[in-house]
This record gives sequence, structure tokens and C-alpha cells, in this order.
Amino acid sequence: MSRELNVYLCGNKTGVLRENELMQLSFQYCSDKVQPLSVRLPARMEEYPNALAAPFFENLTPEGEIFEILAKAHVSGNKVYSILDRFGSDCAGAVAFYETEPNANDDTLHEIPTSKMAQIIDNLPQDPLLTSLKNPPRLSLAGAQSKFAVYKLDNRYYRSTDKYPTTHIIKITNKRFPNLLENELFCMRLAQVMQLGVPDVELKSAKDRQYIEIQRYDRKINGNGVTCGIVHRIHQEDFCQALGIVSNKKYQAGGGAGLKDCFKVIEEFSDNKLTDFTRFMEWIIFNYLIGNTDSHAKNISLLHTNGGIKLAPFYDLLSTEIYPEKIVDHGMAMLINGKGKYASLKSADFMVLFEQLGLNATNMMKTVKSRFSGIVSKAKDLRRSLNFADGSVCDDIIAIIKKRTNVLS
Ligand SMILES: Nc1ncnc2c1ncn2[C@@H]1O[C@H](COP(=O)(O)OP(=O)(O)OP(=O)(O)O)[C@@H](O)[C@H]1O
Ligand SMILES: [Mg+2]
Repeated sequence: MSRELNVYLCGNKTGVLRENELMQLSFQYCSDKVQPLSVRLPARMEEYPNALAAPFFENLTPEGEIFEILAKAHVSGNKVYSILDRFGSDCAGAVAFYETEPNANDDTLHEIPTSKMAQIIDNLPQDPLLTSLKNPPRLSLAGAQSKFAVYKLDNRYYRSTDKYPTTHIIKITNKRFPNLLENELFCMRLAQVMQLGVPDVELKSAKDRQYIEIQRYDRKINGNGVTCGIVHRIHQEDFCQALGIVSNKKYQAGGGAGLKDCFKVIEEFSDNKLTDFTRFMEWIIFNYLIGNTDSHAKNISLLHTNGGIKLAPFYDLLSTEIYPEKIVDHGMAMLINGKGKYASLKSADFMVLFEQLGLNATNMMKTVKSRFSGIVSKAKDLRRSLNFADGSVCDDIIAIIKKRTNVLS
């Protein structure tokens, strides 16, 4: 049996996602004048077949174990189609999926009180998309970590609805990676202090369950008047989507995207090329400095703003190298000068990378060095201001940054 889902972008119907009898996907725009879903899928009347359409949609679903839990419980037919059918009214960016149309007239707000937050956090590993809740939100976010998202207004959390999509992502602790929240908070805040362009992140707790609350940069919420609380979605796509590849190609080691591929996306599609070339280099160097080997093609995105396409704020910045190799692979997501371990890199390898990307290597090196020259003292100041206990992971991260700035200088 074949099935169809209406695909909305920024609240307007943009096309139809189809699953055929062979469980293959295809996508057709309503018109060749609409805003496209992806730089890889320009608006046209001709239907996009599975090979071209499927990667965009697959990259909207959760990954790994979470994908499998969902697929087992909620799938008949194509797994991606079924997950988007069941959960796809609130995804990364401005895309949403409906069998009919959104219920934008329902004004009801369903508050999530602190005790409920604690319960959700406890259940999240087994119930990744909160399906055990009464009226669960239809929410699908990529990534392998346990997370959910909420609509936040006046310091209260609400379950998202068609009218009130989520504004904040909530990430919880993970037994495999001790102090993960402190780690991500510190790295994201350090990037903020270094003015790299990142969303606000706060460490919070519900009862005694810690979590981090990350502001969504792909949502804008009105702050006053009769429209107070109305959320506008801003479209984004990650670099796997922009490259037309599925999520298991997010690592270069798995035959997937490398830095040159990502650079070409910026070269071809950014309307803000010069700034974005520099921001991309800053992303690469910052990940090196903090020891984030997990900087893969789904951890960087393009934002489709009214003013054009540009690199989105950075997210998912954390140090993976503070964990021993038996817990996390220290192989880099994307190679630099053919090398796959940060520990083996010299400053000359970055010069080669800049040359390979067609940049003026000497100038870029100068820019990057001066950009990060104060990072150690800023990291120490930040660590003090955060008031974490002695022996915090921040100290391990600062030690890595110190070592790495010496290699670069
Ligand atoms: N602040 C944000 N605003 C909007 N979208 C975001 C934000 N942070 C993350 N995202 C989107 O949500 C997805 C998942 O987030 P994130 O990468 O932080 O999760 P993760 O589970 O830690 O990922 P990984 O599998 O790489 O460890 C991202 O790929 C991105 O599309
Ligand atoms: Mg991620």
C-alpha cells in the first residue's frame, strides 16, 4: 500500500512525501516557486525519487539506539516515513509533517511542572520520544544522545503543540559519559565567550535531576503584545542534508563527509561566504582545542534566513577526549592533512588543510592564532565563574586547550 504525508515549511504546505509499495520514498513540491527544503532539493515540479529525497528526510529522525526503539514500537513499512508520520510535527528547522493539516487553532497550553520534568528525565532513555505521556508531543530531533524539547514561556515549560513548537532542547545525563552536562555547558559557554556564535545554554535541575537547557536558534518567539509567545520557525539543514547523504555517512571514516566536502557546501550555497569560511575554520580549530573528535557533518548546519543562507550557530560542542579511549573513540570525525588523531597534529598540518581548501594559508593561520590567543585565560575565568567543584572536568578540558594552543603557536 502506498501512503502520503503533507510536508509543511514555515507553516505553509510545500509538498508531499510518498512511500510506495516497495517502501521507497519520493518527494514532490506543490509548486516550483516555493521555498525549497534543502539546497540539494531545489523547487521543481518533477518528483524527487528515493535516492535524492530519502537522505533529507532520514536526517530528521533520531539516530542509533533511539531510532531502533522508535522503529520497533511505531513502524509499519518504511521506518523513516513512519517515524515522521508519528512524530514529525516539530523537527530541526521549519519542516513539519501532517497526514492532513496542522491544528493551529488549538490554544491550549499543557504545562510541564517540575515533578513531571523529573519523571520525563527518568523515563527518557527507555521512552525517547515521550510516548508514554498523555497527549505526547510529535517531536523528532536527530542525534544519538537522550534529549527532548519544550516550549518555554515566562520561565515555565510546556509540551509542544502545532501552535506552540518547541523553543528549547533539554539534554540529560548519560551514565557512559560522566559529567557530560558540565562538559557541554563549559564548552558551549567558552565558545560564547570567544564569540563563535552559539545559542545560550543553562545548567538546571528538576528535583535533583540535572539537565542542560539549550535555546533553539531555529525558533524565534515574540516577546510582547497580543502576539506574545507566538513562535516562528527558521529553517535549517545539517551538512549531511546539504550533501545529500544519509546520517551514517556523517563520519569521514565511514566513507562519509570530510572537511573539503563541508567547505564546498559553504562555497556553493552560503550567501555569506567570507564570514562563513572564517567561522568554519574557527569551528575546526575550536574543536581541536577542546578535544572534540565528534565534530561530524550532522554537528554543523546551514540556516535559511530571510537574509539568505549562512552557517548556523554552533552546537553540540564538548570535549570527547577527556574520556578514555575505551569509552569513546579518539579518531577524528574528519581528517586533517590525512591524519585522524588530534594528538598527531602539528601546526603545519593546519597550514596544509588551509591550502587544500584554497585559502591563503599564512593569512588564515595568523587570523586563527590571534582569534584564539586569549582562550586559556578566558577558559580559566569561565571556570571560576561557573563555581564547579574541585576536580571538575573543566580542569581536564583546560589542560587540553593549553597543550593544543602550544602546538598551534
Ligand atoms: N540550539 C539548537 N537550535 C536548533 N537546533 C539544534 C540546536 N542544537 C542542536 N540542534 C539540532 O538538533 C540535532 C541534535 O542535537 P545535538 O547534535 O546537540 O544532539 P546529540 O544527540 O548530542 O548529537 P550526537 O549524536 O552528535 O552526539 C542537531 O543535529 C541539530 O540539527
Ligand atoms: Mg550532534
